[in-house]
Amino acid sequence: MNILITGGNGQLGKDCEHVFKQHHTVTSVDVEDLDITNPDQVNAVAGKIRPDIIINCAAFTQVDLCETQKEAAENVNANGPQNLAKSARENDSLLVHISTDYVFDGKKKPPGFYTETNIPGPLSHYGRTKLGGERAVMNNTSNYIILRTAWLYGFYGHNFLKAILKKALNQPGTPFKIVSDQFGSPTWSFRLALQIEHLVNNKGRGVYHASSEGYCSWFEFAKYFLERLGIDHHITPCTTDEYPLPAARPKCSILENKRLKSEGLNLMGHWQTDLDEYIRQYGKQLISECRI
Ligand SMILES: NC(=O)c1ccc[n+]([C@@H]2O[C@H](COP(=O)([O-])OP(=O)(O)OC[C@H]3O[C@@H](n4cnc5c(N)ncnc54)[C@H](OP(=O)(O)O)[C@@H]3O)[C@@H](O)[C@H]2O)c1
Repeated sequence: MNILITGGNGQLGKDCEHVFKQHHTVTSVDVEDLDITNPDQVNAVAGKIRPDIIINCAAFTQVDLCETQKEAAENVNANGPQNLAKSARENDSLLVHISTDYVFDGKKKPPGFYTETNIPGPLSHYGRTKLGGERAVMNNTSNYIILRTAWLYGFYGHNFLKAILKKALNQPGTPFKIVSDQFGSPTWSFRLALQIEHLVNNKGRGVYHASSEGYCSWFEFAKYFLERLGIDHHITPCTTDEYPLPAARPKCSILENKRLKSEGLNLMGHWQTDLDEYIRQYGKQLISECRI
């Protein structure tokens, strides 16, 4: 099949490229070649490639920046998916679109979780624009898969783990705080890319949750990562109130992959198992990349 990946330089975009190019023809583009907010560009690129599937990994993912750059966030996270959905309908393509646990209000108490049928209630502008993107996809094509995922980390691009590792390596002995009262499921972008391929191969359609099994706090996530890497650290737990940020985050955004499981299509494993494998594959490279 002919696959077009947008946001191809991001964490998930890179892993989708690696996974899909094993069996398909892949064109992977990022904003410099295809800005998804530009409908003419979307139509021109899609018209030329005529993809069987568009996988939209492009997004404005800096949650706090979305609070001040509201229009830009709306454009990328909501208007962009609308442009892609219209083009997918026009070209008879399947649109795979990625969304987030941050569409939920997080008011459940762990181990409470959100399924595909729970009503969203985003707390931040990021969450609202991502929910807008979901609706734009649903309203403009019937041939779509929307995957909501969570706490994504990969080898390429920026993420929470790399930020923590940089601090631990470059300011040894300096204690720093990490929030321990927000809970979710860290998810490896490579595993998610395999899950997307599996879902596509098995003709899934509609909204799916796709995050790792199990859950933890940001503090537990960082602690597990640093200890498995064998890095000395001085991290201490703190509350959300003690670490104020511009955007509100859900306290508990654990996703249950209910539809994947009921359709026998769930490939997602436990977050610790995937993090162990990520460290085995990339640990040494991460340390040399993050050491200044
Ligand atoms: N990261 C997470 O923790 C997380 C959690 C849940 C869901 N998600 C969702 O998962 C998906 C993939 O996330 P990710 O972490 O792989 O994101 P990422 O690493 O930030 O990659 C997003 C890519 O999209 C590009 N982009 C930005 N604006 C664009 C535009 N107008 N047109 C085309 N490309 C554009 C970015 O380029 P620049 O870098 O140059 O801006 C970047 O290369 C997103 O939909 C995100 O909302 C992420």
